[in-house]
Amino acid sequence: MFAAGTAAFGTLPAGKKMVIGMSQCNLGEPWRVQMNADIKKAAQKVPGLDVVFKDAQNDTLKQRAQVEEFINSGVDLLIVSPKEAAPLTPPIAEAYKKGIPVIVLDRKVLGNDYTMFIGADNKRIGLAAGRWIAKRLGGKGKIVELKGLMTSTPGQDRNSGFRQGIKGSGLQVAFEADMKWLEPDARKEMESALAVHSDVDLVYAHNDPGAHGAYLAAKAVGREKNIMFVGIDGLPQEGQAYVKQGLLEASFEYPTGGKEAVENAMKILGGKKGLPKELKLESRVFTKANIDKGGELLK
Ligand code: FRU
Repeated sequence: MFAAGTAAFGTLPAGKKMVIGMSQCNLGEPWRVQMNADIKKAAQKVPGLDVVFKDAQNDTLKQRAQVEEFINSGVDLLIVSPKEAAPLTPPIAEAYKKGIPVIVLDRKVLGNDYTMFIGADNKRIGLAAGRWIAKRLGGKGKIVELKGLMTSTPGQDRNSGFRQGIKGSGLQVAFEADMKWLEPDARKEMESALAVHSDVDLVYAHNDPGAHGAYLAAKAVGREKNIMFVGIDGLPQEGQAYVKQGLLEASFEYPTGGKEAVENAMKILGGKKGLPKELKLESRVFTKANIDKGGELLK
């Protein structure tokens, strides 16, 4: 184990340098920019620790190639936030089997060939969103569900959790579409939803950019005041700000895990034993009623 030192996340032995390769699936959303910033900030506290970032620009093949590049360049540890589960599984497994520790961050891969997964529980977030929405609408209403990329695990879990949360209520999902986590796609899908449904009560979007895209589509046809919008991510500069402005009814926090990734990278590099295979992060819900108190922890 490295010395605890005075640094927040431990220190490397004097004069020792280590490199973490960080494979980010894209930097299109503020949330991913924040994740990289959180990693950078945490890593700066450890003298001798360097993080090299690669951005796959939302291209799965590019991300696979970038993970391979990291393996070949001999990084000491890899952090990967994968775009999609299945295609990123083989290169991550390859790194792991070659002895490079891999922290999988936020979106999961298949199987167990990685060192640690860090992320919040998307099923739980979806479930909480479903229950909260059912309560907010008094148990009945027409919903539009704008889903995140369904080949990524948060999209799948935010969908299945939500469906479980509204089960037995009178809520009806009248329109659903995969907006792939992207605001412009969400806006387009919402235009279609509005064209066929004159009585939408609420939009449940799997992320805040999606909820914002839906809001803009409704606003363009003067219907934004008759519809509620709920999103996920809850960044201070995005979802929380939207809730404060009254644009979103609620935003469920999805922490980036950047700080925790560096913290655990240091433990792994220091040879600490008995670390968990999965580190679950807490999540909060922000609503108009609780935003000034900093939201409320999901139970
Ligand atoms: C950003 C993002 C977030 C979302 C996360 C899920 O690319 O879509 O908005 O919470 O990825 O992995």
